[in-house]
Amino acid sequence: MTILVTGGAGFIGSNFVLDWLAGCGEAVVNLDKLTYAGNLSNLASLQGDMRHTFVQGDIADTALVAGLLAQHRPRAVLNFAAESHVDRSIASPGAFIQTNVVGTFALLESVRAYWGAHSEADKATFRFLHISTDEVYGSLGTGEAAFSETHRYEPNSPYSASKAASDHLVRAYHHTYGLPVLTTNCSNNYGPFHFPEKLIPLLIVNAQAGKPLPVYGDGQQIRDWLYVKDHCSAIRRVLEVGKVGEVYNVGGWNEKANLEIVHTVCSLLDELKPRADGKLYKDQIAFVTDRPGHDRRYAIDARKLQRELGWAPAETFETGIRKTVKWYLEHPHWVEQVQSGAYREWVAQQYAA
Ligand code: NAD
Ligand code: TYD
Repeated sequence: MTILVTGGAGFIGSNFVLDWLAGCGEAVVNLDKLTYAGNLSNLASLQGDMRHTFVQGDIADTALVAGLLAQHRPRAVLNFAAESHVDRSIASPGAFIQTNVVGTFALLESVRAYWGAHSEADKATFRFLHISTDEVYGSLGTGEAAFSETHRYEPNSPYSASKAASDHLVRAYHHTYGLPVLTTNCSNNYGPFHFPEKLIPLLIVNAQAGKPLPVYGDGQQIRDWLYVKDHCSAIRRVLEVGKVGEVYNVGGWNEKANLEIVHTVCSLLDELKPRADGKLYKDQIAFVTDRPGHDRRYAIDARKLQRELGWAPAETFETGIRKTVKWYLEHPHWVEQVQSGAYREWVAQQYAA
């Protein structure tokens, strides 16, 4: 038995592949384009592991994907591949439309052709699991109920709009063609292998480099944080026992304002790796111009996943963020290696002012 994972060299995909192979013997074919966000060193511990086959390529390459499906005959396809950074989607939306919309469409077409040739019994057990985000639901006001699976779609950024489009395509392939799909919409993840353009790893990396810790606007925007390995366990659970055609929201009930996150990371660094000059990391906080169209609050209602599939996160925010900061301190080589020329160019452009 084999599964095909797309985007498995990125943050969540690589955590998923590592956890999957640590927990079971089933082989993984990992298709990843290796954009700036894809990093094979995330998968270095799998070197020589015959259960992992890495293929560099694009989900939009239908000939490549058809060949992989025919060769490896996976029982499931899990689609992690995406352009994922909101700020980049504001600066250059084209790549988001290409991968998240056109790419997902092309992948669905390849999978539909492969699945359609199965026997009725194998058709019924096949799964296409699409990994999506809570950002498709838009922004919540203070006191509004957390996003449930039936919340209206109201995406506000090119990123969330492109993910919303992909979710709709996945839904349509189930309703129109009967493709056995599952969709998960998860809140903000954090943990090992998180690319340091996103808030938490950026803070850890900048703090140690003596650079400013950029806080957009007033820092009171709220995100609902989930440790990445809890997201991976939720995906495994949904793949195993999720009901075909259903959507499952994934979250850990950890709403935090950005400024609180910044202070938590600073305190952990003060404890685990104090500044050489005896000052506190919070002295590096810098309030900068807000993100255009910045969503104010996300919150996930994950009760359906808990009630129907029995999933619950293993980490609290306190345990997960401590593990995360420690992981970054213990992996300076990984941090150094992902800060390529392309990364430095992005940081220079984004934080120029
Ligand atoms: P990431 O940017 O770290 O990784 C994306 C991976 O996809 C990279 O390895 C990249 O090389 C690959 N990729 C990009 N375009 C591709 C293409 N056309 N073909 C094949 N591979 C391609 O993203 P992530 O944070 O790991 O997110 C993974 C998925 O989870 C995304 O679909 C994202 O929308 C979703 N998600 C992310 C979060 C989060 O907090 N990071 C939360 C909820 C949902
Ligand atoms: P981010 O990690 O980019 O995730 P998302 O935009 O998908 O939620 O950002 C998390 C929050 O942190 C978001 O409200 C934007 C804010 N933020 C900053 O304040 N400063 C930064 O430098 C970055 C990258 C994000």
